[in-house]
Amino acid sequence: MSVLLTGAAGYVGSHACVELLNQGYSIVSADNYVNSSPVALERVRQITGRDFPAYETDLRDEEKLRAIFRAHKIESVIHFAGLKAVGESVKKPLEYYDNNLYGSIVLLKIMREFGVKSMIFSSSATVYGAATKMPLDEKMPLGCVNPYGWTKFAIEQLLRDLCLADPDFSAVLLRYFNPVGSHKSGLIGDNPSGIPNNLIPYVTRVAVGELERLPVFGNDYNTPDGTPLRDYIHVCDLARGHAAAMAYAAAHKGCEAINLGTGKASSVLDVIHTFERVNGVPIPHFIAPRRAGDADESWSSTEKAERLLGWKAEKGLDDMLRDAWRWQRQNPKGYHA
Ligand code: NAD
Ligand code: UD1
Repeated sequence: MSVLLTGAAGYVGSHACVELLNQGYSIVSADNYVNSSPVALERVRQITGRDFPAYETDLRDEEKLRAIFRAHKIESVIHFAGLKAVGESVKKPLEYYDNNLYGSIVLLKIMREFGVKSMIFSSSATVYGAATKMPLDEKMPLGCVNPYGWTKFAIEQLLRDLCLADPDFSAVLLRYFNPVGSHKSGLIGDNPSGIPNNLIPYVTRVAVGELERLPVFGNDYNTPDGTPLRDYIHVCDLARGHAAAMAYAAAHKGCEAINLGTGKASSVLDVIHTFERVNGVPIPHFIAPRRAGDADESWSSTEKAERLLGWKAEKGLDDMLRDAWRWQRQNPKGYHA
């Protein structure tokens, strides 16, 4: 029996591959590499010393997906595959709904065909929209502020409805906060193409000298140092969360949304200063205008994850930024070197 990982070659997926292989799971990868490289999967094999089948396929290619389910006995699916750039989703909503939502529909139809009734889904704290009461917990009302978020919202709702219609179906909706860092080997990591949108890859590219200075998007937020607060979580902790969710789904039917965060909030300036301290590398930066859509703060309640999954993040910001820097330093051109 194998676990199918869609989007396995991506940032979070590749770290989850390592965790699952190390825990003894058999895995199958399905990815079209639209935002990743098959080299990441080679590195996963190198880290774990284990091999696994990897298919290059778009989720929306029904025939190819069906062939994977025919070739392997799939017991459950961890569904990472999706487009994730918020700004791009505003410009290209149709592409985002098509890829993320329609791709999920095709996947779920094929799962039904083969009687596979367990899915762990990569959702996001973005489904809490503009909520202002912290910490964010799973009972809070949802609402999104961009098409990317709405695709996550829609897939969550689809999975809730599926579980209502089929009492044998298990779905865990993992709402990630801000995944950062990389595996301690420095062999896999976050590898955005072009100028990074997210804070940590921008910081590491300034550190490596590829970008000159970090723009700090506003210092007039309603927070202690004026820069926004976020719940950064080490991607290896996140990967462990998926293994815990797998175990939970194997023992429980129905649909549960669960936050994966640390419950701790760090500001943009905290990130810069911590990076400089733990790595001994200066991060030149300047105060730039606010970025549209950024909230003052976003951090997670960890109660439900601890209660249902027995999972808790272990790594702190020092580890995250040390590991992010090791990855960037060892792979200044990402997987393309
Ligand atoms: P990523 O872009 O690194 O990985 C996504 C993977 O999915 C890539 O390998 C890409 O090639 C693949 N993919 C995309 N569309 C596909 C399709 N139609 N068919 C097959 N493969 C396809 O992103 P990530 O950071 O690893 O994120 C994984 C998931 O977690 C995504 O669904 C993302 O929306 C979600 N998420 C990520 C973050 C984050 O900050 N990284 C936060 C919250 C939620
Ligand atoms: C962003 C997305 C969120 C998505 C998440 C994935 C937006 C509005 N939100 O979250 O939907 O789920 O990425 O990881 O795009 N910052 C700078 N300078 C930079 C980059 C970022 O100051 O060059 C600041 C931002 O203003 C923010 C913080 O750093 O306060 C974190 O930003 P980022 O890493 O992009 O994550 P989020 O905005 O929290």
